[in-house]
Amino acid sequence: MGPRTEQNQVILVTGAANGIGAAIAELAVARGHRVMLTDVDEVAVASRARSLGPRAAACVLDIRSIEGWAKAFEAAEAVFGGVDVLVNNAGITHTGVARDLDAQQHRDIVEVNLLGTITGVCAALERMTAQGHGHIINVCSMTSFLPLPGYATYCASKYGLRAFHHSLAIEERDGPLDFTIIHPPSTRTGMLKQEMADPSCSISFAEKSYAPRQIAQAVIDAVATRPVEVVFPPLAGRVQRIAGVFPRLMRRVIPIAEARGRRQRERLLTRPGGAGR
Ligand SMILES: NC(=O)c1ccc[n+]([C@@H]2O[C@H](COP(=O)([O-])OP(=O)(O)OC[C@H]3O[C@@H](n4cnc5c(N)ncnc54)[C@H](O)[C@@H]3O)[C@@H](O)[C@H]2O)c1
Repeated sequence: MGPRTEQNQVILVTGAANGIGAAIAELAVARGHRVMLTDVDEVAVASRARSLGPRAAACVLDIRSIEGWAKAFEAAEAVFGGVDVLVNNAGITHTGVARDLDAQQHRDIVEVNLLGTITGVCAALERMTAQGHGHIINVCSMTSFLPLPGYATYCASKYGLRAFHHSLAIEERDGPLDFTIIHPPSTRTGMLKQEMADPSCSISFAEKSYAPRQIAQAVIDAVATRPVEVVFPPLAGRVQRIAGVFPRLMRRVIPIAEARGRRQRERLLTRPGGAGR
């Protein structure tokens, strides 16, 4: 495999069996990195890793499990000799307005998106600090700037993740680690298909969606450039961030965006090919 360089890092990706995580793993391998793909779906992640050749390996990991994290890092160390970059990508949603989700669904979202990711960051912190280097990339969401109808607990989990991420990065500013947070917009994965099936998620269709490979590109670029935070798209991202600060503006603007999303969703549903746009 040759010595480890900026172009040849060992990257551990969570939620790598599908969607954005699978695209990150694929692009990372194509760029010369070595990747430990992890996912709660053991069969799917093993098959995904096999399809990527010898620079990829797989390990089952439910990000909610402290023991699972230890095993995943040990597996990466055994196969590749340590982890340089952790990409915390795994996440879930349960669609529906808050009053229609049951208590367990609210908990699942927080336990995976927020607590699972925090568990992984803490596991990585210890190991990466001991090895004297490391880069933690958290895949968050544009919903961490702007509360959206149909996403109450999902937004809360991502707001929480952004707050945790930046608090920790400031705490660790004199240490050897780098921290990046990346906020995908609507991206054409299984998650967006799930949202397409539920009219309460219409707002996700108000703007153009992205291909998983476009998000993967930003993540793999970040491995080299180590930015503090990446938003999509750069300009509209700024609008969302500003609207998120002013509650009255938010209450006026979001129903307009939701109505637009409803129209776009209807159009997509009646078009051959469905959710993609
Ligand atoms: N798709 C979008 O529109 C969108 C937008 C913004 C942010 N995101 C975020 O991007 C990340 C990836 O989303 P995606 O769209 O690729 O989703 P996806 O549903 O296509 O894939 C998610 C993967 O995570 C795995 N997973 C689920 N629970 C897990 C757990 N407890 N432990 C480990 N793996 C688990 C699933 O098996 C799946 O392979 C998520 O954090 C999501 O919140 C997605």
